[in-house]
Amino acid sequence: MTSSATEDSISSIKAEALERLSAATDQDSLERWRVEFMGRKGRLTGILRNLGSLAPEERREAGAAANRLKGELEAAFEAQSALNKRAASSAPTDAIDVTLPGRKTRPGRLHPSTQMIREMLAAFNEMGFQTVEGNEVELERYNFDMLNIPADHPARDMQDTIWINRERVGADGGILMRTQTSPMQPRTMEQQDPPVRIVSPGKCFRIEATDATHEWQFHQVEGLAVDEGLSFADLKGTLYEFARRIFGADRKVRFRCDFFPFVEPGVDMSIDWNGRWVEILGAGMVHPQVLRNVGYDPEKYTGFAFGVGPERVAMLKYGIEDIRHFFNNDLRFLSQF
Ligand code: DAH
Repeated sequence: MTSSATEDSISSIKAEALERLSAATDQDSLERWRVEFMGRKGRLTGILRNLGSLAPEERREAGAAANRLKGELEAAFEAQSALNKRAASSAPTDAIDVTLPGRKTRPGRLHPSTQMIREMLAAFNEMGFQTVEGNEVELERYNFDMLNIPADHPARDMQDTIWINRERVGADGGILMRTQTSPMQPRTMEQQDPPVRIVSPGKCFRIEATDATHEWQFHQVEGLAVDEGLSFADLKGTLYEFARRIFGADRKVRFRCDFFPFVEPGVDMSIDWNGRWVEILGAGMVHPQVLRNVGYDPEKYTGFAFGVGPERVAMLKYGIEDIRHFFNNDLRFLSQF
């Protein structure tokens, strides 16, 4: 190989390399370019390696020319690389393709439990009850103790509890997933003096062997009214009116005695369903001990309370045969509401 032959190939490599480089507009083709021209087995390296076969005089000239080319190609490579990076970072990556044909959006809707709860709350709100909300994680003190359900009370067995922390810590007791919305009774009364008139919706949790009428998670709407001179007639009047608003004026309603530790007397209320009585709520006159627990004088104040299951009410109202549908997240069910 002669010196002029080397210079020829240097200038032809340079022309080809610069032309190809300007077309290498992404990092992959840029890297392929680098390997072809500047890599260990690349074309420029080939020339440098051949310098040894030249005469000393020619070698100096050709070597200088080859090194100049090396510097030029390196600089051109860096410039192209910077250009590519800038172009890539300013390219819109999440551009909206305006040529796509339009598609129908499918609007969501409120869960049937939420719809039922709102309907029930609206009925009670119109009767003067204010809505308050509580926590799903609750203290043993409010879920049980303050409601006249001490630690060894058999009523606790009916509400097999999901505990967060079973250990009793001071007066607060343990921490649990609330088994009922009733803790909002003492929580509300602790915060204010009578008159009290509240409803409190929310989710409750119990360890249950689930079946068509039992779920381990469900909702309740709690109600509480405390004032001077409230009687059982007020309780019945309120709940009759509630049933009338939800189920219509003709629906038959039945009260029976029932036991809940935080009321005395206690009742449950059933709705006539095609000749069958179906229980939808528990209720009663607030137990004097519950009033005393929050510092109310039971000689001066009386009250009534109730707890309604909105899923139960919805099942009756819409003829839903299995409570488990509510939490299966099956759109074939949910989209019917
Ligand atoms: N919390 C009761 C339960 O889950 C329901 C209930 C009964 C609530 C009577 C009340 C009441 O407020 O007075 O079984």
